[in-house]
Amino acid sequence: MDSINKLRVGVLVDEKPRAGLRGEYGLSLYIESERWRLLFDAGSSDTTLGSNASAMGVDLSTVDLAIISHEHFDHTGGLAALARSGTRAPVLIPAGASWRLERAIEDLGLSAKRVVTGSEVLPGAFLLSQQYGPPYEQALAINLKGRGLVTVHGCSHPGPSKIVAKALNDTGVRPFAVIGGLHLAWSPPEGVRSELEALASLGVKVLVPLHCSGSLVMRESSSFGIESREVLAGDWVEF
Ligand SMILES: [Fe+2]
Ligand SMILES: [Fe+2]
Repeated sequence: MDSINKLRVGVLVDEKPRAGLRGEYGLSLYIESERWRLLFDAGSSDTTLGSNASAMGVDLSTVDLAIISHEHFDHTGGLAALARSGTRAPVLIPAGASWRLERAIEDLGLSAKRVVTGSEVLPGAFLLSQQYGPPYEQALAINLKGRGLVTVHGCSHPGPSKIVAKALNDTGVRPFAVIGGLHLAWSPPEGVRSELEALASLGVKVLVPLHCSGSLVMRESSSFGIESREVLAGDWVEF
């Protein structure tokens, strides 16, 4: 698998925003390397995605790809903002997504592509095939040179560590960091701890919990040797 040298993630949509940005339940990330740009999920509404993107200086028309992790409204609702940018970038959706999602994307004038097999969609960026389902969810694994894999999760419906384990299995590259929704906000403390233990044993060193991750994972991670970074909508995360 190819690798990249620089990775920067802009948090376009999340519940808690920096001053001047909108907060919204949902997730949207702008991900940039020295070789490509992509949009990962689209938040709940096009007004939030559009206005936060412009507040952060992100031009959605320049993305090479858009990836939808799964078809819940809080990850797909803002796609109209991407369509309005005039981009021709394809929108990659899980193989098992409903025809309604595909139709909604086509109705916006964008092109939907179902991802059946995992593959390196851009140099150093491997899109894993779907897990779990419904909702079928796909995640992205980026190979950062000298560090390892940064996996990008929408909601982690399959379980955060199951996604990381698949990323390791499918790419053969050791995991390093996880960013995105971890779906642990409703888990009991022992569930959060067992996920952290599994992530640590897979080699994860850094967590950037967003969206549905809950606050406990942030407080507990250091006892498993994992550094958690707290970020808000409007922040840039560098790895
Ligand atoms: Fe979600
Ligand atoms: Fe979800």
